[in-house]
Amino acid sequence: MDWSILQGRMVQYRRHFHQYPEVSHEEVKTREFIREELELLGLKPYSFSGKDVAVEIRGKAPGKTVAIRADMDALPVQEETGLPFASKNKGKMHACGHDGHMAILLGLVQYFVENKCQYNGTIRFIFQHAEESIPGGAREVVAAGGIKGVDAIFGYHLWQPLPLGTIGIRKGAVMAGADEFNIRIFGKGGHGSMPNETVDPTLLAAMAIMQIHTIVSRSLSPIDPAVVSIGELKSGSTYNVIPDQAKLSGTVRHFNQQVSKQVHQRLEDILAGICLSYGAKYELEYSYGDPPVVNDEKLYSLMRKKAAALFGGKSIMEMEPQLGSEDFSYYTDRIPGMYTFIGVGKKENPYGHHHPKFDIDENMFVPTVKLVSGAVLDYFKNGEFV
Ligand code: NI
Repeated sequence: MDWSILQGRMVQYRRHFHQYPEVSHEEVKTREFIREELELLGLKPYSFSGKDVAVEIRGKAPGKTVAIRADMDALPVQEETGLPFASKNKGKMHACGHDGHMAILLGLVQYFVENKCQYNGTIRFIFQHAEESIPGGAREVVAAGGIKGVDAIFGYHLWQPLPLGTIGIRKGAVMAGADEFNIRIFGKGGHGSMPNETVDPTLLAAMAIMQIHTIVSRSLSPIDPAVVSIGELKSGSTYNVIPDQAKLSGTVRHFNQQVSKQVHQRLEDILAGICLSYGAKYELEYSYGDPPVVNDEKLYSLMRKKAAALFGGKSIMEMEPQLGSEDFSYYTDRIPGMYTFIGVGKKENPYGHHHPKFDIDENMFVPTVKLVSGAVLDYFKNGEFV
């Protein structure tokens, strides 16, 4: 493998993607570009959901199937980097590094086109749409059979909070699950001077908020971290009218699907109790969002060994669980998966993900190709998996 040629190509890809960002569910030209590049390599790209691009490379003999996934979408952000290859699409920017993820996945495809003889099995490359939307595109890929027959899946994120050159890994839950809830409390409106004639939904909403804040501290196990936040409270429109309804909405973050169910149940109990005692009614809509990303223990060990062998033990950073969510979880919820963070943080560029001045370091492309391809080859070779 000529790494400097591959690096040059990946930089070209990345800068192309960066100039023409497309947001979630609108990745039309991005998809076309990837398809064309794959066809130039003599491959036959296809799609599961109609919005993703997938391609397979078979090794020298049949064996296990491994998938590698990259996300394709940009964000509705106006770029302020001043880079010569800055976004040409107004109000849209690759401000999370997904441009780099695609470039690296195209690099991995080229690596495995040249190294087919090194493994028995099949590698499926998935360029996935709409990671940034809720629910994410991964759900559509999974529903369309995207990981049918896949034994293990790898994903990666160029990560600004980690110092340049480090590899962030974690066993078990690494990114949170995120749910949303919407509550309506129906009381009985009336004059502010005659509260005895009303059922005041504002007061009941306030009581509900206080009790909802006991869910994490008094109902969940202290070993299971979770967040329950109310982000919205709407009730009434003027000072002397008691309204007839109040609206609340909030988010739940967790690292364990069971916690979602428990929070949902506690919300029901709290609302039912308050409404019963004051003669009100309620509606609760609880939307189960992305599950948490959970890294498989064996794949974690395999990735750790590979990172240590390639870059030395000091390059490895044990990640804290991240409260953000990532729809790679739809894969790890069903099959063993490993999501790895590639450090691209540096002092000269302190702007975090989703910031208008966010930038990645292209020098991490080749190390990522080496790391992921090495882990995939080890997976195929490793007796305990085969
Ligand atoms: Ni991202």
